[in-house]
Amino acid sequence: MTGDVVSAAPEPADLLVTGIGELTTNVSTSDDVCGTMRDAAVLIRAGIVAWTGPAAEVPDAAAEAPVLDVDGAAVIPGFVDSHTHLVFGGDRSAEFVARMAGRPYAAGGIRSTVAATRGATDAELRARLRLLIAELRAQGTTTVEIKTGYGLTVADEERLARLAREMTEEVTFLGAHVVPPEFADDANAYVDLVAGPMLAAAAPHCRWIDVFCERGAFTPAQAERVLAAGAARGLGLRVHGNQLGPGEGVRLAVARGAASVDHGTYLDDGDIAALAGSDTVLTLLPGVEFSTRQPYPDARALWDAGVTIALASDCNPGSSFTSSMPLMVALAVREMGLTPDEAVWAATAGGAAALRRDDVGVLRPGARADLVVLRAPTRTYLAYRPGVPLVDDVLLGGVRVDGGGVSGGRRT
Ligand code: NIG
Ligand code: FE
Repeated sequence: MTGDVVSAAPEPADLLVTGIGELTTNVSTSDDVCGTMRDAAVLIRAGIVAWTGPAAEVPDAAAEAPVLDVDGAAVIPGFVDSHTHLVFGGDRSAEFVARMAGRPYAAGGIRSTVAATRGATDAELRARLRLLIAELRAQGTTTVEIKTGYGLTVADEERLARLAREMTEEVTFLGAHVVPPEFADDANAYVDLVAGPMLAAAAPHCRWIDVFCERGAFTPAQAERVLAAGAARGLGLRVHGNQLGPGEGVRLAVARGAASVDHGTYLDDGDIAALAGSDTVLTLLPGVEFSTRQPYPDARALWDAGVTIALASDCNPGSSFTSSMPLMVALAVREMGLTPDEAVWAATAGGAAALRRDDVGVLRPGARADLVVLRAPTRTYLAYRPGVPLVDDVLLGGVRVDGGGVSGGRRT
């Protein structure tokens, strides 16, 4: 599976990336979660990592490969943004202004984006989507998951999934985002539609199914039905849960063996114990806390309890309209207690774990050559220099892509 963020995939290539001052491989050891190599090189063959090691010990087989000398820069695996809602119409900046003035975030705001999305043409949605993809790629994201969930009719959810699938293989059906206005009096009838004809229409484009299990969205029983229907169609499971208050989302996700439960703003000890003893990743979305003024979860305590943590942007027009994974790293360090190394791991290898991928988020032989060259000597700068465009180059399958590069300059 590729799962990359290209709409027109570049030709895979051979390349020797050398002069790497600090290489983050994410081949973790007990005292270095990032699997750091210094003065390193990466040999890429046909878009795949063939070798990593000291720059002074590059194998002879690399002699013919073009060379990219990064002159002491830090290199990390491309970010894996495992949670976004990028297919939508309209704008909710007024809602953001109201929130900053004290109004609370409410799930109901989703319905205004649903109305705008239903009214948008495919061409309009595709144009917005492409801009957002270019934007996130320029910030170092090389794998992105995209959810549906702003259509909420059979035809609209099918087209959102189809449009998302033009950009990534990591497409998630989120028909159970909120109950749309036309079903306001009969949420169970809407769940029947989601678990039946809507799922049938969207599933061919999707790898995952997700449900917003929260007061104001779907009950645990309704969420169970949606997940069971998705599983029966062969989709992997994801859950939005514990975002607006304590609830059953985390425990439901763990009980169903979901790949990920996302948000986790309000967790109790039972949730943490359930996560720590499971294969379900907890995907933290600090852009949401930033943009809604909700409390940041204590990622330090979660990490120490043994929970596997991913960081993702949740890019959407309501609760977190940012595509910046560097910002997520900075927030996770400043506000949630992770070390810079842990935050970089969570934004790369953690995202890969949340998507059950072992070919991205890591730089070891056999992995996709998705690399980000930072305009910095160390990955720590992602938190140390917040808001600064540090992504110098993005390599996707070993190929330099447009959108990286704030310094222009050097290269092959
Ligand atoms: O992940 N929690 C539900 N869904 C989105 C919010 C989408 C919106 O407000 O439009 C989220 O935060
Ligand atoms: Fe979300």
